[in-house]
Amino acid sequence: MKFKLIVGAVIIGSASLVTYIITKPISLEKSISIKVQALVKSMTLEEKVGQMTQADIPNISAFQVEKYHLGSVLNGGGSKPYGNKRASITDWLEVADEYYEASISTKEGRAAIPIIWGTDAVHGHNNVIGATIFPHNIGLGAANNPELMFKIGEISALEVRITGQDWTFAPTLAVARNDRWGRTYESYSESPDIVANLADDIINGIQGINNFEKNTLAPKNIIATAKHFIGDGGTLNGDDQGDNQSTMQQLRDIHMPGYLPAIDANVQTVMASYSKALGEKMHGNKSLLTDVLRGELGFDGFVIGDWDGHAQVEGCSTVSCPQAINAGIDMMMVPNDWKGFIEGTIKDVNDGKISMSRIDEAVTRILTVKMRMGMFEQTKPSLRPFANKVELLGSQQHRDVARQAVRESLVLLKNENNILPLDRKLNVLVTGPSADSLQNQTGGWSIDWQGNGNSNKDFPNGSTIFDGIKSVVESSGGSATYNRMGLIKKGADLPDVAIFVFGEKPYAEMFGDRDESGMRQGKQDGETMMYQEKLKRDLKAIQRLKKKGIRVIGIFVSGRPMVVNDELTQLDAFVAAWLPGTEGNGIAEVIFKNNEGKVNYDFKGKLSFSWPKNPLDAELNIGDEIYDPLYPFGFGLTYETNSQ
Ligand code: BGC
Ligand code: BGC
Repeated sequence: MKFKLIVGAVIIGSASLVTYIITKPISLEKSISIKVQALVKSMTLEEKVGQMTQADIPNISAFQVEKYHLGSVLNGGGSKPYGNKRASITDWLEVADEYYEASISTKEGRAAIPIIWGTDAVHGHNNVIGATIFPHNIGLGAANNPELMFKIGEISALEVRITGQDWTFAPTLAVARNDRWGRTYESYSESPDIVANLADDIINGIQGINNFEKNTLAPKNIIATAKHFIGDGGTLNGDDQGDNQSTMQQLRDIHMPGYLPAIDANVQTVMASYSKALGEKMHGNKSLLTDVLRGELGFDGFVIGDWDGHAQVEGCSTVSCPQAINAGIDMMMVPNDWKGFIEGTIKDVNDGKISMSRIDEAVTRILTVKMRMGMFEQTKPSLRPFANKVELLGSQQHRDVARQAVRESLVLLKNENNILPLDRKLNVLVTGPSADSLQNQTGGWSIDWQGNGNSNKDFPNGSTIFDGIKSVVESSGGSATYNRMGLIKKGADLPDVAIFVFGEKPYAEMFGDRDESGMRQGKQDGETMMYQEKLKRDLKAIQRLKKKGIRVIGIFVSGRPMVVNDELTQLDAFVAAWLPGTEGNGIAEVIFKNNEGKVNYDFKGKLSFSWPKNPLDAELNIGDEIYDPLYPFGFGLTYETNSQ
């Protein structure tokens, strides 16, 4: 755990697991404050409420941005320019330009305020074909390398700039405590220490360090979002958008620590969680959104709501929710019925349900962030410094960093007779459902929302795990054959070794919950932590190979640890690879020796989630009174010291 002591700081959080001292948030530069005040004063109520509204791109035209004074748009998972999944860089820029031009129109005396476009660049610029896609957070938690996080943040931001967006809804600072949750892979760790250790570095990478003191962002940076405040990872039964029943002290100890370094790093936006905390939906939770987040933690950016999250507050609908605005949400994500929301909110103000001073406060915060970013001095998106730099999107240099992240995220859990690292001259059979699948490797939030409508072609320049193995062995006199089912022709030579790559199919948000609701969405195979609870298809495939006397290395591609006891007894070695992203070739670099027959790269990853032994151990966390994992938190073998 990093411990930062800053002179003149105020101590705001002292928990059993983390002690953190935060600096006072940067004081708002005077000139900005004067400009913002003047602007707010000049705005009509329609303009103000428009600033507070964010719509999803399929549902809003540039003309409407101008007419209704929209402050922001987003592209939700799967929303693409012109509805085209394979939208090009120029398509993205064209749409960004149109929105921008509309937002700065001064027609009929309207205030010219640049629109801010937010996107879920949660593991690289993952909505764009050809972008570098990094491992999902669960793998980055296993790597737990702050310098690497900084680089990942920087590259993700720069790739977003190429297509003209300004803002990412990342990082997720959830501390996932129940692995049935479908967003477990978006969490760095079950331990707040690891989340807090990485939060500021990724944010500094995305936003740049110290840029706000100059009141501008460097051209390669964008603004970040710490999400989802607070307690998203601690809901009962791991239900997505469910009820976090923690006490205030537990919220502070477990779910809050990541926010302290995030705010210290000047994160400019915080997204409210869909979930409940202290008995109340977070979107309507004034004590946490205002008293704690702003008062106590000193957050001075703006709070963005989640996708129609306000509609879940008691007494609210998508088009009207004074509770959410009064609780402290400054900008509402209203993907579809943004027009109704603007009308409803204007009416709520006129009816006295929301005060004008609260509206002014929200708009002031939004405009302050826009000014701090230097948005008012910028040109249209396509003319900004990194726009349209085709050669940088998914560049070799960016992919090399992603490949490093893959290597460092791998956790070696079993290595009988030191079978790993393998010699490059072997004849290798590569098999299993995830061996040649970029879709399975990248998981949810990859090109499409759930991540399951893709094929390898959707990730140009990406490499599958098989690709990586093939290129390593073939360059050194070995051979690699891929056969999904692991079939070996009668009479054919047996391979020297088989690499069996298996695990979860992609999912996102509620579809990934391992419970009835997730299953109703039809996306997974069981309610417990047992892998392939119903059909033990992969176990049988492994057994078939073993019966032939072939040694089998298991590579597990998944968004969470799962019970694989039966598979494990069969396997000679077992590697948790999490959801590595587009650079599958990082795996071969670790499991094979180099050309001199020495260790090429050693394993560095350590479990940031406890690995369960029992199917019912979904809620198994370091620090539990009764703690009986198969592999404990922090576990991970290396070649150098402790292979067995
Ligand atoms: C959107 C996602 C969003 C989800 C929320 C989807 O239709 O594409 O971005 O997170 O709805 O339910
Ligand atoms: C998710 C957020 C995401 C938003 C926009 C929501 O459903 O909870 O994490 O940023 O959609 O896609």
